[in-house]
Amino acid sequence: MYNELGLTLSQVTESAALAGYKWLGRGDKNRADDAAVAAMRHQLNDSNVNATIVIGEGEIDDAPMLYIGEQLGKGGAAIDIAVDPIEGTRMTAMGQPNALAVLAAAEKDTLLQAPDMYMEKLVVGPQAAGAIDLARPIEENIRNIAQQLNKPIQELVVATLAKPRHDSIIKTMQAMGVRVYAFPDGDVAASLLTCMPESDVDMMYCIGGAPEGVVTAAVIRALGGDMQARLLTRDVVKGDTLANIKHAESERQRCNEMGVSENVILRLNDMVKTDNIVFCATGITKGDLLDGVQKHGSYLTTETLLIQGHNRTIRMIKSNHDLNKTNKELLKLIA
Ligand code: FBP
Repeated sequence: MYNELGLTLSQVTESAALAGYKWLGRGDKNRADDAAVAAMRHQLNDSNVNATIVIGEGEIDDAPMLYIGEQLGKGGAAIDIAVDPIEGTRMTAMGQPNALAVLAAAEKDTLLQAPDMYMEKLVVGPQAAGAIDLARPIEENIRNIAQQLNKPIQELVVATLAKPRHDSIIKTMQAMGVRVYAFPDGDVAASLLTCMPESDVDMMYCIGGAPEGVVTAAVIRALGGDMQARLLTRDVVKGDTLANIKHAESERQRCNEMGVSENVILRLNDMVKTDNIVFCATGITKGDLLDGVQKHGSYLTTETLLIQGHNRTIRMIKSNHDLNKTNKELLKLIA
């Protein structure tokens, strides 16, 4: 079942990436996201799955969303899906590297359902599993990870996002001697690098979106890594302006409704309850993990990373999509 589901779901991120590509470099991140959402919805509704969206993009940047609780598919395996139709809307709009369409799926009721809010995330690969504790200062985590990896701190590589809110922690890590790779956007890819066989990244730390966090937790569990996280309200992350305080109130209310708590440490097993994960990411623009969409005549070419937890496989799928043979509804979104 999982091999078949992997192929089915890889077509979902392919469709989203193709739709996002239509808006590449056009300066309109919401229209790009809108098209990717519509393509994902179309492709999922055309698939033999009984899917529930447990967490989707939308409220942080008021982008169109695949809404939490939305049911999709023609019927079949009952699965939870965590999605980010475009992980890197700004990069897509501005033609910058590392934009992806991503999703993670698992058996029903195994992925965390949470509001679309901010999440603090600490991620490591399999060799450092068990060495992290988000309740402890980042310096202590770095020392513990280095010790478990049997590496001097100067050889440790940490990925993060280059956001002003991380300036001070980046300085702290660099002062300890750690090598810091600060990506403008895209913490799913940054986190995944901790578990990819050929990557030199040992740890990822950032405050980013919760949908990206749940997608990340799923793929990190599939690959045997480790992650801790906590949901944070907007006032904590962006400052306590009146607007942010008001927004935080509604986030707290949504947390209550969904039975999750803000500011409480979530371990990997709190976010993902199974190893049987299917994760798909298709490149929209060329990046650290994948090539972006390319056009050759009537063909569009995509590259997709398909990771399956049940047998811990990492596959790269290169696909050529002939626009002359593309379903009409999808064609409107991608051409
Ligand atoms: P989107 O393109 O989906 O908005 O995400 C890009 C991203 O960098 C994520 O990887 C990260 O989790 C989030 O934005 C951080 O949010 P913000 O842009 O508000 O700092």
